[in-house]
Amino acid sequence: MAKAKSIYRCSECGADYPKWAGKCETCGAWNSLVEEPLARSDARRAPAPAAARSAAGAGAVVTLGEVQGGDGTRWRSGLGEFDFVVGGGIVPGSLLLVGGEPGIGKSTLLLQVAARLHGAGRRVLYVSGEESPLQVRLRAERLADRATDVLLLAETELETILATAASLSRERALDVLVIDSIQTVFTSELEGAPGNVGQVRECAARLMRFAKATGTAVVLVGHVTKGGGIAGPKTLEHIVDTVLYFEGEGTLDHRVLRATKNRFGSVDEIGVFRMGQDGLAAVENPSSLFLGDRDAPASGSAVTALLEGSRPVLVEVQALAARAGFGTPQRVATGVDSKRLALLLAVLDKRAGLSFAQLDVFCNIVGGLRVQEPIADAAIATALASSVYDRPIPSTALLLGEIGLGGELRPVSQVERRLAEAARLGWTDAYLAERGIPSRVPSGLRVHGVRTIDQLLRTLFHAGARESEMPAGVA
Ligand code: TYD
Ligand code: MG
Repeated sequence: MAKAKSIYRCSECGADYPKWAGKCETCGAWNSLVEEPLARSDARRAPAPAAARSAAGAGAVVTLGEVQGGDGTRWRSGLGEFDFVVGGGIVPGSLLLVGGEPGIGKSTLLLQVAARLHGAGRRVLYVSGEESPLQVRLRAERLADRATDVLLLAETELETILATAASLSRERALDVLVIDSIQTVFTSELEGAPGNVGQVRECAARLMRFAKATGTAVVLVGHVTKGGGIAGPKTLEHIVDTVLYFEGEGTLDHRVLRATKNRFGSVDEIGVFRMGQDGLAAVENPSSLFLGDRDAPASGSAVTALLEGSRPVLVEVQALAARAGFGTPQRVATGVDSKRLALLLAVLDKRAGLSFAQLDVFCNIVGGLRVQEPIADAAIATALASSVYDRPIPSTALLLGEIGLGGELRPVSQVERRLAEAARLGWTDAYLAERGIPSRVPSGLRVHGVRTIDQLLRTLFHAGARESEMPAGVA
């Protein structure tokens, strides 16, 4: 029998086993055994005694000032939104992870980036483990970017991929290596199937060492699990330099690229693309996507300004409150946290006398964006009230502010930038917490300070927001 190449180690207690099992016999944890290559795990376990370590085996210590390189080189693809999100271009020798659901457009994005980089004189190898060369070629032919000159390798064995990359580098340095996807790659050192935790972790670690040793930037495509995380071990996100998520909403054709970790740039930046017949095109004015038809204001619609990374984006909130049928009224939130919605409904009831007890409530963010900032509270609450009153909010009014449990409006961070974006797009009125009015207000914008949600509703609807004054037939 061949000697086993690998062992299974419990990720909870570190116990080793020759075979995989569902349960760790030592600590009792379930599903915690992960395959590891035998040779390296032995070396990791038992460091040589100090006396036995020869000077020849010692590492090279330098002062930080002596460290070479890092001249700030970045390879720009020219696909502006991508370059922006990675922090101004790909850093040589870095390891990037691009996650996203199947079919969202990861392969398309990276093929376009590869094509652009190639066009800019960089040497790129695109490794496809999921699709045949013909499939990749058919995709390339659809694209507006000329991708037909990009070097392609259809391979899943890591050793072959690394050997190919190394042999290509001998003629001329390989700048970027794209692996589509990390879940299809396997090393023959481990027995586990491609995509399992041990394989993904080991392959990613080897690719990282390759990137650091050669200066080739490696881009990994990763699938996401149902929970939204990148499939495979969490350690994958720890070892890479940059984590990007490519997201979209159901049937909509726009896609958002978001950095959630970036050693070479800021996080939470977004880049917005639209998927068309000939691939992805950058959307330069993201606000246009998240605003509905603003010509004919309807009730139940309100606009706020969110910050997506450093970028202010105007977003429309839509709400509909309708008489409930039998049973418990429904609360349906899309793009809004449902607990936040429940909280706002309670605050409206208690602090502004607007009861939703008999009403079904639907709340939605136009364009499929997910609202993470509580800044959207004021817009959500006024949209709800507007739907109950059936009175539209002026289409050029901007609503900003978190609402506290006491019904008070809280000041907004980075308010100047949000107001500047609204003014740029032609908004004329902004409603926000009195305490948070900035000293400098963009010209063309009137800023109204309010203290509470009740006062805000009175100001907007010129009426009392008390239940007794609600239009007949609603409550
Ligand atoms: P793909 O890049 O294969 O997604 P992923 O790698 O994330 O699984 O993109 C798949 C979808 O994109 C597919 O449904 C077809 C669509 N698409 C377009 O709409 N236009 C295009 O030009 C291309 C290449 C793909
Ligand atoms: Mg793909």
